[in-house]
Amino acid sequence: MNERKKFYVTTPIYYVNDRPHIGTAYTTIAADVLARYHRAAGYETWFLTGLDEHGQKIAKVAEGISMNPEIFVERMAQPFFDVWKLLEISFDDFIRTTQERHKRVVHRLWEKVKQSGDIYLDRYDGLYCYGCEAYFTEKDLDEEGNCPLGHGKPSRVSMPSYFFRLSRYTKKLLEFYEANPDFIRPKSRANEVISFVREGLKDISISRTNFSWGIPVPGDPEHVIYVWFDALTNYISALGWGEEGEKGSLFEKFWPADYHLVGKDILRFHAVYWPAMLMSAGVEPPKCVYAHGFLTIGKQKMSKSLRNVVDPLNLKWEFGMDETRYYLLRDNVFGLDGDFSHDALIGRINSDLANDLGNLLSRSVTLVKKLLGSRCPPPSDGGEEESKLRAKAMEVIEKAGQLFHDADFSSALETIWQLCASANRYIDGRKPWEKAKKGGNGEAELKTIMYHCLETCRLLACMIAPVMPVKSREMLSVLGFEPPPLNKEPQWPSRWGGFPEGMEIREPKIIFPRIDQSAGTSIKARLGVPQSQESESKEIPVGKGKVTGESAEKITTQSDGNISFEDFKKVHLVVGEVKSCEKVAGADKLLKLNVDLGEGRTRIIVAGIATRYTPEQITGKKIIVVANLKPAKIRGIVSEGMLLAAEDEQGGIRILTTDGNARTGSPVR
Ligand code: MSP
Repeated sequence: MNERKKFYVTTPIYYVNDRPHIGTAYTTIAADVLARYHRAAGYETWFLTGLDEHGQKIAKVAEGISMNPEIFVERMAQPFFDVWKLLEISFDDFIRTTQERHKRVVHRLWEKVKQSGDIYLDRYDGLYCYGCEAYFTEKDLDEEGNCPLGHGKPSRVSMPSYFFRLSRYTKKLLEFYEANPDFIRPKSRANEVISFVREGLKDISISRTNFSWGIPVPGDPEHVIYVWFDALTNYISALGWGEEGEKGSLFEKFWPADYHLVGKDILRFHAVYWPAMLMSAGVEPPKCVYAHGFLTIGKQKMSKSLRNVVDPLNLKWEFGMDETRYYLLRDNVFGLDGDFSHDALIGRINSDLANDLGNLLSRSVTLVKKLLGSRCPPPSDGGEEESKLRAKAMEVIEKAGQLFHDADFSSALETIWQLCASANRYIDGRKPWEKAKKGGNGEAELKTIMYHCLETCRLLACMIAPVMPVKSREMLSVLGFEPPPLNKEPQWPSRWGGFPEGMEIREPKIIFPRIDQSAGTSIKARLGVPQSQESESKEIPVGKGKVTGESAEKITTQSDGNISFEDFKKVHLVVGEVKSCEKVAGADKLLKLNVDLGEGRTRIIVAGIATRYTPEQITGKKIIVVANLKPAKIRGIVSEGMLLAAEDEQGGIRILTTDGNARTGSPVR
């Protein structure tokens, strides 16, 4: 029997001093797409992400809030885990550098490198930027002597330190790059690294003595191992490198990694230090380090001080998770910098998703329902138009698969959308609705056309699955299939004609709703997006063309006072768990609740229920919260949502809760 092909992809491990944001979500989503695509294409796949918990940066932040670093990292780790789960990130393992399994392997690697004669004790006198956790020389700094990545002036340090003989690896690395031209991607970035190495590498300091939050050096606990030596090792510690028996078998199976996805700022660590460390330890380097570009906001760097950091969960609640994933990967070329904009996201939702794909699915399903009694007709070849569509489908399956494999996400999606456009043109040209009335061979023609439409929709549903796992399954379900669970991929298609004859399609439903001008404006207001951050144009593309102001499609109140389901869906009702609660000083009616909505943090909600409930009565309850209400200041406290309550027979307050233990964070529909 043939051994299954293997695929191993990693993200950087994120520093726990921050919360997940759109930049870290971008890398993680990209890695998820690679993992999902490879699982769909039959590869045995391993996807690793995790957290970088040691080092001076973390120690300083913890110290700043007078917290023990162990407790600090414990608190900060959970949000990453939760947010990735909420974004459907299908990681197989989540490594934390404070775990024993990791520390053991770091020690093992240190010992191996030492045995190779590549570690020696000396003194480090120079600059250190703890924002980057990197050693700098004067020439790395900008004109004002600041860190080039905006972390201010580096500190001057002088301390005993162990060094790694990186200088020994200049030639070996250059030979390695030459023999493995795909090791650093994209190519443009490879050139930067190669020129840097060509200048000749210097030994690097790999231990610190001026703080203690790290893994002690074996046999010399006065020193802690440099955080990058520690962190890079995660890629093999998670696979149990050097461990006995089963623990180590993942390493045998999956190493070398197929992709380390990293941001361009940390390429040098991955493409120079890491392969040299591995060579020294006698371990094969990874196959590819892919450095993606940075996401900016309104062309500005994202930063807490500019208050422009985008929270991926807000995007999920407001625009939808799959929509956000699609936009991020479709609008940005993976290796290059890209600018995030809410208007561009809305544009993609309206044109690519609602107008192109949504429209194709809805036309196909509605016509099959109306004209063919909701049953898939038998496959038949038809004429030239049909064979053109089939050829296009096969070409797209092949090409998009290769592009996903190569981490060229924007081109893969563009290619898939070519099939969508071809199918929409095909329906326009073939006019199936006219065939039904035509008599003669009209019925047979209608069946041929509708089979081609349904089969194209099925293929598209399978091909979008790596990027839009939920929407793909919703599409498959409308088409009549039992979609696989979210942790099992629909197979990447390999042939035309998999739609079973006679299968009953389900009721058409809107899977890709549009966001009209006024809804877009309200969403941006809720998210607090400053006008200046977005494009100059006040237009939000709806459908193919751009529709401005008044003429934009609007969801309005019906004359009978009813609202549409689309309007209802704009209100995000979510199950929250009250974690703690207290009275608001000086306000008899108000309670201040700390509510978990499954977002990896708690929200403060101020509610006028103190006349009926004590803090003790409300703590621990599952409540229903309007999660996307604009935050409001009540008695000086910012309330980030509203709980729902009703009246009892006596006119008293009764909060709404759930029948049984509903999942925290579950949407309420
Ligand atoms: N802990 C190290 C990585 C160790 S890997 C062995 C680290 N962590 S980080 O949390 O600061 O950054 C993690 C990744 O997020 C980096 O790849 C960085 O490039 C990426 N991004 C941070 N902000 C970003 C954007 N605005 N846009 C895209 N990616 C960005 O570095």
